[in-house]
Amino acid sequence: IKRIGVITSGGDAPGMNAAIRAVVRACSYYHISCYGFYNGYNGLINGNFEELDARSVRNIINLGGTFLKSARSKEFRTKEGREKAYKVLKKEQVDGLILIGGDGTFTGGQIFSREYDIPVIGVPGTIDNDIYGTSHTIGYDTALNTVVEAIDKIRDTASSHDRLFFIEVMGRDAGFIALNTGIGAGAEEILIPEENLGLDRLLDSLEKSRRSGKNSSIVIVSEGDKIGKNVFQLADYVKENLPYYDAKVTVLGHIQRGGIPSCFDRVLASRMSVKAVELLLDGQKNVMVGLKDDDIITCPLDDVIHEKPKINKDLLRISEILST
Ligand code: F6P
Repeated sequence: IKRIGVITSGGDAPGMNAAIRAVVRACSYYHISCYGFYNGYNGLINGNFEELDARSVRNIINLGGTFLKSARSKEFRTKEGREKAYKVLKKEQVDGLILIGGDGTFTGGQIFSREYDIPVIGVPGTIDNDIYGTSHTIGYDTALNTVVEAIDKIRDTASSHDRLFFIEVMGRDAGFIALNTGIGAGAEEILIPEENLGLDRLLDSLEKSRRSGKNSSIVIVSEGDKIGKNVFQLADYVKENLPYYDAKVTVLGHIQRGGIPSCFDRVLASRMSVKAVELLLDGQKNVMVGLKDDDIITCPLDDVIHEKPKINKDLLRISEILST
C-alpha cells in the first residue's frame, strides 16, 4: 500500500474530523500518501479530491461536521457509478480506502471492494449508534450530550408551566439515543422502535404519574418508534384521552448532528482511524474497526451489514423503576 483514500459518507457526525485527522496523521507516520475525497462516494466518482498531509489537518480535532463533506451518493449505487470511481482510483494509484460512515456506506464499500478488489476498511461514524460490531460509533456520545442538554432546558419550562412534553429524537430505526437520553434526562416514558409498549400503557403510565403528584412530564419518542402515531398525533391523542394534560411537542432534529465533539468521540475516532490505516498496511480488507470493552477490535463488513446491534433492554426496566 502506497496511497490510501479516505471519505466521510452518510449522515455527518461529530468526531468525523478527528477521524480524518487521525487517518492522515497515521499515513504520514507510516510514510504513505493520503487522498481525501470530497462529498462521500461522489468525490470518488467525480475525481474530487485533495492530497492531505499532516499539516493540512491541523486545528480540526475540535470541529463538528466533516471538512471533507458528506453525502448519500445515489450514483454509487449504480454499476456505472462504481466503475467511474474505480477508474479514478486506478488513475490516481489509490490502493486502499477508509470509509467513515454508517451501514449504507459499508454496504456500498463492500460491493465495490468485491467488484474491483480494492481493500476497504470501515470506521463507524453515525450519531445513531446503530452499527453491529462496535459498542459505540463516532458521534454518538456527543449527540447524547447534546440531547440531554436540550431536554434539561425543556424540563425547566415544562415544570414552570406544569406541562407534558413529547420530545422526538433521532436514531432512524434504532432506539439507542432515545433510551440513553431518556434515562440520562429522567424521562417519564421512552418510546423506541425495538419495543412497542402500546398506546394504552402510555396513557396508564401518564395517568398514574398525574395521580402520584407529578405536575410535569417528559416523554422521549424515538423517530423510528412503532407506536403507530407520529409525535404530533401522539400529543393530540393524549390530550383527547387525558384532557388535564397541557401537552407540547419538540422535535430536536438536526441540532443533534452538530457541535463540538466530546472527548470520548475524539479519542474513539483517533484510536479507530489509526487502527484502520494499520489494518490496510497489514494487508487486511473488508473489515470494520469497532470498540469492545475498551479495546479496538475488527468485525467483517459482511457481519456488520447483515446483523443488527442490540439495545440493552434492561434500560427500559431501569427507566420504569426510576419514573415511579
Ligand atoms: O443516520 C443519522 C441520521 O441523523 C438519522 O438519525 C436520521 O434518521 C437521518 O440521519 C436523517 O437524515 P438526513 O440528514 O438526510 O435528513
